Amino acid sequence: MMVPERKIMNFKEKYGPWAIVAGGSEGMGGEFSSYVASQGLNVVVIARNGAKVDAKVAALKSDFGVEAIGLPLDLGDLDAPARILEATKDLEVGMLIYNAGLAGLSPVQNLDLDYELYRLNVNVRSPLALTLHLCKAMVERKKGGIILLSSSGGVVGTPYIQTYSATKAYLFTFAEALWAELSDYGIDVLSVLPGNTIGQNYSDVPPGTPGFQTGRDVVEVAFDAFGKHPTVLSGETTIATVGKYFDRALREEGVLMMKQIFVDMMKQYGM
Ligand SMILES: NC(=O)c1ccc[n+]([C@@H]2O[C@H](COP(=O)([O-])OP(=O)(O)OC[C@H]3O[C@@H](n4cnc5c(N)ncnc54)[C@H](OP(=O)(O)O)[C@@H]3O)[C@@H](O)[C@H]2O)c1
Repeated sequence: MMVPERKIMNFKEKYGPWAIVAGGSEGMGGEFSSYVASQGLNVVVIARNGAKVDAKVAALKSDFGVEAIGLPLDLGDLDAPARILEATKDLEVGMLIYNAGLAGLSPVQNLDLDYELYRLNVNVRSPLALTLHLCKAMVERKKGGIILLSSSGGVVGTPYIQTYSATKAYLFTFAEALWAELSDYGIDVLSVLPGNTIGQNYSDVPPGTPGFQTGRDVVEVAFDAFGKHPTVLSGETTIATVGKYFDRALREEGVLMMKQIFVDMMKQYGM
């Protein structure tokens, strides 16, 4: 029997030479930047605070001997995706990690529409724009990777973080669909759903606090699942609480069933 030849690529071949880490200067995002640099990828670090971006770029270069570029900008600005794509147009970007996310706790009747639209830009519009653009070249190259940071707060509609919760549900649903679609082109897609993590939102929590994981923990969980599953929950507390409402195996079965239905539909329409 002829076994189809499949090239085994290492991390750098498959996801390099450049990664964009949107929200990659500190906390969980900083850990994602360090992890991909430790695997030999050059990194474009994006965040608002220019001094922290510069510090991260310098650390990546000296710690891992890779190239790194900083792009200080606000991912909630409408022109952010275009600015990122212009600044990286000459780079071969094989990996997108979209980490930035705007959380918030408030009764729904107190929300301000303009602020919620800004939240949509940070949490949905920018990751959507970057993914749609960058996946085109990945499809042509037949390799690449996309990681979108969702949240355990997106598993069910969560009161008092309702708009955040809905944006995070968008991200993991989008990732599930892309996982099934883009696997045909050798591209890995994952959405990570962490629970409480020491990071920008919980910066004063000491490591080892019960119920809190570190950014490094999340990165390890993410790369363990990457290339195998479309989603992964991270954090013991998360798994013990909302975990029971997130049956990954059942969801994957459903995603693949829907893929077949829509593949057949596209054939019917000659697409
Ligand atoms: N921490 C948690 O408990 C937790 C739980 C569930 C899900 N999550 C998700 O995990 C991701 C990381 O959250 P985190 O709180 O742990 O943060 P973090 O990774 O510790 O830090 C956030 C990073 O994103 C950058 N950033 C934030 N807003 C940005 C913006 N508008 N434009 C550009 N860069 C921006 C920050 O730098 P600047 O401030 O300099 O911009 C920083 O580099 C988010 O998507 C969040 O929703 C976190």
